[in-house]
Amino acid sequence: MLFDRVQLLRLRITVKKLSLLIYAHNQRDLIKLLRRKFGWTDLDLPVIGMGTWKIESRGRDAQPTAIEALRLGLDLGMNHIDTAEMYGNGQAEQLVAEAVDGQREQVFLVSKVLPSNASYEGTLKACERSLKRLKIDFLDLYLLHWPSSQHGIEETMRAMEKLVDEGMIRFIGVSNFDVEQLREAQHALMKYRIACNQVLYHLAYRGIERDLLPYCAENGIAIVGYSPFGHGNFPSSHSRGGRVLAEIAKRHNRTMRQVALNFLTRDSNLFTIPKAGNPDHIRDNSGAVGIWKLTDEDIAAIDRIFPLPPTDKPLEMI
Ligand SMILES: NC(=O)c1ccc[n+]([C@@H]2O[C@H](COP(=O)([O-])OP(=O)(O)OC[C@H]3O[C@@H](n4cnc5c(N)ncnc54)[C@H](OP(=O)(O)O)[C@@H]3O)[C@@H](O)[C@H]2O)c1
Repeated sequence: MLFDRVQLLRLRITVKKLSLLIYAHNQRDLIKLLRRKFGWTDLDLPVIGMGTWKIESRGRDAQPTAIEALRLGLDLGMNHIDTAEMYGNGQAEQLVAEAVDGQREQVFLVSKVLPSNASYEGTLKACERSLKRLKIDFLDLYLLHWPSSQHGIEETMRAMEKLVDEGMIRFIGVSNFDVEQLREAQHALMKYRIACNQVLYHLAYRGIERDLLPYCAENGIAIVGYSPFGHGNFPSSHSRGGRVLAEIAKRHNRTMRQVALNFLTRDSNLFTIPKAGNPDHIRDNSGAVGIWKLTDEDIAAIDRIFPLPPTDKPLEMI
């Protein structure tokens, strides 16, 4: 006989110890999510958060999985959740309420008022409705979803300040604002500062790097990049760009999406909020930053294949 019983037992124990070690290493890898200072605030937030646009869209049967995905994300440290009254007409907020039930204190919860609701009274009422759907007493951050053509920014910002004073929101932010619009919003605030600007930012849309990113960094405004995977338009591994991402991913033993998220958060003022209704995707996204980093050569290669636009362009939104 090749092994006696004792040797076999020892071998089994060694294999078990080894697999536990590998498991622990993977877990550490997953939960070592990078956190950084959120703009001028004294908060440390995970670089990768979670979006919720269309989280409700796959119908009732898929909703438990979407909730499971959000809960897994929280377990893995992605405790910045982005939602909006617009998403599924409030349904996304209701799903988020279920996901954060029992762990509200651990979550940085963000919602947004629609520009059509952004009058003084309208903003106050919209916030109240969001709090009710989310089953919470206050939002950590409340954003104007995009600049309103109906209501002046002074009105909206006055309401935002009232919401802070009433303890219904902790921080004020905006979304889809260019530098000029940001200046106006800041100017309209009497007591508080803009904490964040949430803007479109993915490999094929890097326009914000020209003037918005430096302006926000200088003024302590955190940039949260949305639709990091191009809202379902991520480069295929057969495309030129996809091949570059795949090569880099292989070198680091990562996935193409992890490479993209790592690139999109390489600046110290950047955060990102990929949406994933699938728990495997959440797990994947949570490993995008932390104990590994793209090299300067990787960044240069991505820069060549997904270049900055040659000139300034108006801020885009989706
Ligand atoms: N402020 C604004 O105006 C604005 C505008 C757009 C978006 N946003 C926010 O930004 C969030 C993210 O943007 P987005 O929803 O437009 O799109 P996105 O995050 O660019 O892409 C989401 C898509 O990528 C898939 N996905 C996620 N992780 C993946 C992974 N690791 N591997 C493969 N597929 C993966 C998702 O699939 P599964 O769902 O099947 O996992 C989903 O189909 C939104 O949900 C929203 O909260 C804000």
